[in-house]
Amino acid sequence: PALSEMLNLYDFEAVASQVLTAEAWAYYSSGAEDEITLRENHNAFHRIWLRPRVMRNVLNVDSSTKILGHHSSFPLYITATALGKLGHPEGEVVLTRASYKQKIIQMIPTLASCSLDEMISARGEGQIQFFQLYVNSDKNITKKIVQAAEEKGCKALFITVDAPQLGRREKDMRVKFVDAPPDVQGEHEIRRDRGAALAISKFIDPSLNWDDLKWFMSITSMPIVLKGIQTSEDAILAAKYGCKGIVLSNHGGRQLDFARSAIEILPEVVDSLKKEGLLDSIEIYVDGGIRRGTDIFKAIALGAKAVGIGRPMLYAMSSYGQEGVEHALQLLKDELEMVMRLMGVNTLADIRPEMVDIKNLKDH
Ligand code: FNR
Repeated sequence: PALSEMLNLYDFEAVASQVLTAEAWAYYSSGAEDEITLRENHNAFHRIWLRPRVMRNVLNVDSSTKILGHHSSFPLYITATALGKLGHPEGEVVLTRASYKQKIIQMIPTLASCSLDEMISARGEGQIQFFQLYVNSDKNITKKIVQAAEEKGCKALFITVDAPQLGRREKDMRVKFVDAPPDVQGEHEIRRDRGAALAISKFIDPSLNWDDLKWFMSITSMPIVLKGIQTSEDAILAAKYGCKGIVLSNHGGRQLDFARSAIEILPEVVDSLKKEGLLDSIEIYVDGGIRRGTDIFKAIALGAKAVGIGRPMLYAMSSYGQEGVEHALQLLKDELEMVMRLMGVNTLADIRPEMVDIKNLKDH
């Protein structure tokens, strides 16, 4: 179908499921085990209802914001997803270019199919990129990766903390993986017979712990954000250890099945950070299951600074390339601005917690 027939993000998913190879579809779409968390991520949004205000002059609506001080045309960034070339011959640079066009931030994955240099070179004038880090068991390699990212102008370090071991993504395990990028981390043998995830993940350090944060802060001046926080206890620790942000995330349902959705965790995280007097010291982002403008609105209302989006960008890229990603982002931005009008707000700062009804969020 023509790109103009793509009316929402699910339309891209349907096309992607047809055009992707079996390997790519399995790797992109899979979740852990019974995929309960994968489904819950979006379903949790269905338990939040909206309380629109009327007669508020919504002639002008502005959805722009700042993420860690950097401008973003609306409160969404493209999160890190590995192996972009499974879906598109040019890989992640397609996302770089589309992010630039739509004036949003791209998070560069450690396990991109493109090299760091390629993603940096694809950057437009003034474009902001963050860097996602999988911590390598070899500290020297980790240090090199982090410092290269900083030298090359990445503006924040998102350390993934929810993957000391890769989750069981059985769809992915069932297809034989033959397209692994040439030995991504240089030293570990790649297992090609048990799915893409396992093939690329052997180097990740399971001994990563809170004490390591001091070391990270000594090797980089990029602000550090922990990606994959899932409890208020850990949110408080992250703030106390000096992190500038946290991503409430369960890795798109790909790690621990039965982890709660980020949107469900958000209210308790905000409450407990507030109680500890730490709320102003840290930005909170959520990812997982963001598919509609209402999803973004709900996250902002409950205290998120921005949301991350993963699979829909891969699907748009795989089916329609850069134009597809730009169109998908435009759809989301238009939806958000429509929702803002219908909710009676002009700016993101006007979005209040009382505009969402979360009584069903917990009791279901
Ligand atoms: C991911 N995710 C991920 N996260 C990360 O920190 N490093 C990575 O390399 C990857 N790779 C990756 C590949 C694929 C194919 C997917 C779908 C996801 C997780 C990602 O950053 C994010 O947390 C989720 O994708 C968000 O959920 P949605 O938007 O996909 O529902």
